[in-house]
Amino acid sequence: MPDVQPLPPTVPAVRSRKRRLGAVPLVMVTAYDAPGARIADAAGVDLVLVGDSVANNVLGYEDTLQVTVADMVHHTAAVARAHPRPLIVGDLPWLSYHVDVADSVRNAASLIRAGAAAVKLEGGRSRAAVIEALVSAEIPVMGHLGLTPQSVHAMGGYRVQGRGADAGEALKADARAVAAAGCFAVVLEGIPRQLAKEVTDELDIPTIGIGAGPDCDGQVLVLHDLLGVNPSVPKFVRRYAELAELATAAVAAYASDVRSGEFPSDAEAYH
Ligand code: KIV
Repeated sequence: MPDVQPLPPTVPAVRSRKRRLGAVPLVMVTAYDAPGARIADAAGVDLVLVGDSVANNVLGYEDTLQVTVADMVHHTAAVARAHPRPLIVGDLPWLSYHVDVADSVRNAASLIRAGAAAVKLEGGRSRAAVIEALVSAEIPVMGHLGLTPQSVHAMGGYRVQGRGADAGEALKADARAVAAAGCFAVVLEGIPRQLAKEVTDELDIPTIGIGAGPDCDGQVLVLHDLLGVNPSVPKFVRRYAELAELATAAVAAYASDVRSGEFPSDAEAYH
């Protein structure tokens, strides 16, 4: 059973969840399909993120640059059909919000029509105008700063961001910009703990960390990482299960039973 009964998972309720005001940390996990959404719901998390990390975790791509708006609509709709209690956040994929503001609003709207209550996008000051346009179209926006996987080539790989005084100040300026543009929360990924704490202390909106230490207003992990489905995970992940091992053993037992004639039994047949 979940430890904490979640608050009603609305955007305003999430927006007010600052730990310095006494709030319990927010819990977000990715889900890419109906079974994942049912697990997240039954576990009592606050938010499910239909992440563009569906690319790496489900679709077998090397990076998140390969998924399209159509892919994200497909997976957001699958999550929404499970009618989970947590707030559904749909990830805007690369190039769906970089070229034209009107197209960005239409792309975000397609995730909302697929069942998301909010969208997430990566980037700071350079995304302020598009965040404002989405918010003025009544589409709640979650920001995402630090190690932003859609910038993998620009960053030169998946590296911790915000190290050093200049990079730290730049990230703080980005955080101020996305908050001022109207984001209701912001993901901080792959940045030093101290920087995440300073951003969390400064912002009035909640920060949700992933590889950003324990001082954020909430945490997010990829479902397949925390369940031990993925063979290797980054340092910041805690694995709460070893599902790949369990699943392999189960399928191997089934294969063995079929080959030995143990499965199916008469009780597993129709008469
Ligand atoms: O797509 C994703 O899984 C994400 C999280 C890492 C925050 O953006």
